[in-house]
Amino acid sequence: MKKHKKNNLLITGGAGFIGCNFVKMLLEDMRIDDLNLVVLDNLSYCGNLQNLDFARNYSNYVFIKGDICDRVLLDKIFAENEINGVINFAAESHVDRSIHDSEPFLRTNVGGTLALLDMSVKHNVKKYLQVSTDEVYGSLSAAEPAFTEQNYIKPRSPYSASKASADHFVMSYYATHNLPVVITRCSNNYGPNQFPEKLIPLMVLNAMEDKDLPIYGDGRNIRDWVYVGDHCAAIWNAFECGNVGEVYNVGGNCELTNLQIVTKILDVLGKPESLIKYVADRPGHDRRYAMNSDKITRELGWKPKVGFEDGFAATIEWYKKNYEWCRKIRSGEYLEYYRRQYENI
Ligand code: NAD
Ligand code: TYD
Repeated sequence: MKKHKKNNLLITGGAGFIGCNFVKMLLEDMRIDDLNLVVLDNLSYCGNLQNLDFARNYSNYVFIKGDICDRVLLDKIFAENEINGVINFAAESHVDRSIHDSEPFLRTNVGGTLALLDMSVKHNVKKYLQVSTDEVYGSLSAAEPAFTEQNYIKPRSPYSASKASADHFVMSYYATHNLPVVITRCSNNYGPNQFPEKLIPLMVLNAMEDKDLPIYGDGRNIRDWVYVGDHCAAIWNAFECGNVGEVYNVGGNCELTNLQIVTKILDVLGKPESLIKYVADRPGHDRRYAMNSDKITRELGWKPKVGFEDGFAATIEWYKKNYEWCRKIRSGEYLEYYRRQYENI
């Protein structure tokens, strides 16, 4: 890999859903010349090297299989690649798993972030961006206004508690060590390559296979959906132009109930509503998320570009075309997880 370029970026969690779309945007769509990418991912159950197949021929890209908690490895990576920017996507990301076992969330989301922060201070990194989530703000009632960056941090699941804790560490490194940090907090993403344990891909694949679509509770919980490509653009914008020490909310301005999403999937795939199965609610299920993205629009000029109808159709089409990708993933550990999560509810 060529050295001494302007940006030698460490992208963690790049083999996951949002990370691989982000790497694709930088390498294939933006074709930024002045950039070296080191992607670090431990290829946990949801990390998939196949997601990064497209990147193999780029001379300014390397993949390293490894854990963000491994400080010896991080030190070596930072030194050998002269890393001067970090974008941290790596995380345990599924609320349902955090309910079964919270410990991996503490380890990766908090401990791993802390290791990256320490290495970023040690190696004098010029920008550190933490990819965070709207879930750190907790849950809204139907009447409350969308979350702004001023809302209290009030996480309610072990997943969101670990992400909130990481955010606090990130901000503390800005105040204490002067590390130039930026945090983005985004709402629910949808798009290609999402692991089929999350709502949209799970329901699309189940519907394609005429299996039950398990809706938690009354199905009226609301999420604010944003296309993954728009989230990636917001992250790059915030990384390049965001003011240090700042948080930027990112949302799709697209609030839908889970029932609306699932009905739409059935409609697009031409499947009957009789596939819908109401199951026991998720413990502590957040009722509503909604993001106010005025700050990133006003300060950095970012806005979501992909409308829900277009993004949704493209996403379903992607899952249809990449059924083999899904089939491979839905084996082994996934089947064990699926049985545990859905058989007794
Ligand atoms: P994902 O679960 O698809 O991907 C996470 C990636 O991190 C995987 O490739 C996994 O192998 C890797 N990883 C996990 N633990 C690791 C470790 N210890 N060391 C190295 N790599 C590790 O998740 P995603 O949906 O792509 O989310 C990426 C980030 O965006 C997360 O930080 C998540 O909290 C945040 N986020 C996600 C959403 C969403 O809707 N998916 C919304 C807002 C924020
Ligand atoms: P999910 O994709 O897990 O994202 P998050 O909980 O981080 O928002 O779930 C999105 C919504 O869909 C959430 O309200 C829970 C609901 N849901 C179901 O009703 N059934 C399911 O099988 C799954 C996975 C989610």
